Amino acid sequence: MSLEQVLNDEERLAQLDVDQLRQLVGLVEYDASGDPFPVTGWDALVWVVGNATQTAHFLQSALGMELVAYSGPETGNRDSVSHVLRSGAARFVVTGACDPASPLADHHREHGDGVADIALSVPDVDRCVAHARAMGATVLEEPHDLTDEHGTVRLAAIATYGDTRHTLVDRSRYTGPHLPGYVARTSSHQPRPGRPQRLFQAIDHVVGNVELGAMDRWVDFYNRVMGFTNMAEFVGEDIATDYSALMSKVVANGNHRVKFPLNEPAVGKKRSQIDEFLDFHQGPGVQHVALATSDVIGTVDAMRAEGIEFLATPDSYYSDPELRARIGTVRVPIEELQRRGILVDRDEDGYLLQIFTKPIGDRPTVFFELIERHGSLGFGKGNFKALFEAIEREQERRGNS
Ligand SMILES: [Fe+2]
Repeated sequence: MSLEQVLNDEERLAQLDVDQLRQLVGLVEYDASGDPFPVTGWDALVWVVGNATQTAHFLQSALGMELVAYSGPETGNRDSVSHVLRSGAARFVVTGACDPASPLADHHREHGDGVADIALSVPDVDRCVAHARAMGATVLEEPHDLTDEHGTVRLAAIATYGDTRHTLVDRSRYTGPHLPGYVARTSSHQPRPGRPQRLFQAIDHVVGNVELGAMDRWVDFYNRVMGFTNMAEFVGEDIATDYSALMSKVVANGNHRVKFPLNEPAVGKKRSQIDEFLDFHQGPGVQHVALATSDVIGTVDAMRAEGIEFLATPDSYYSDPELRARIGTVRVPIEELQRRGILVDRDEDGYLLQIFTKPIGDRPTVFFELIERHGSLGFGKGNFKALFEAIEREQERRGNS
């Protein structure tokens, strides 16, 4: 499969080209002919939240997303309200119960606000489901068509960790605003003057937290069921601080468009941040969503102006001579990064800039990462310790350490 072919409709629509994507999310060449479960890219992240109407507003103001579609009682959906938002190639759907008897209300009571569905774009839904079933995956929805005046979408869904699912979507024969049942919708929201046109261009990776001892099982799931390969491995001392520790492995689809780091808690002197997540989320789920930006400084400034809080990075991180020597020269002076708490990591391929928000909902669960890649295909391994120490200070303030 050539790189041109890996651009999906969303990316073409967002006027992203292959070189931009290669830089933004670390795209690589690969041959899909032997792939038992070809994945083109992300279709959407579907969030179940307590108040989809207000979350849609938050995503417009704080993340600069654009409202594009809607489903709810006015469109014949009595159960729930869903808003669809876009930024570049990224699509989020935020859904909340409208009918008090909706199963979504139960989902939200159990897990709080979070990602319920990591929907993936696949060219052949039936082939993927057949392979997944043969490999022992749980098929939640058999392949089926949804049709309206804009065409036909073919969909199916398989289960992954916790109550999270992967809906598999082929929208190659569909031209509507989202899916049948949705109508196009825009909003009167206006960005602040001077704000960058987009705060992020694409989803880079989505991280799952799973229970102690379950990480290898889910790595194996992505290897066997979805043909993903292992990208990197972080274990033991790499990411242990004095108090908490975790283990992490990363799987990716063939072109690296879709990357799933998977974390499990490791035994530390205090409760791991992963344990805290598992308690408040009541089981495995999506820990963070990394958003690719070509200008992390502009994005952080715009988000902070809207009141988004980021994890603080200690000044000692920037004054550490070892770090300065390791990261070398990056595109902005280190003082500019320090003022904003942006982290830097470098590996043999290049470097990346990254920063993490605090949890975005009421529970200490899901949060966002902003990532600006310059050649590096990593995940900020060198920053894990500095980051976790910052997370632990927050955990302590919540009394959950
Ligand atoms: Fe990350």
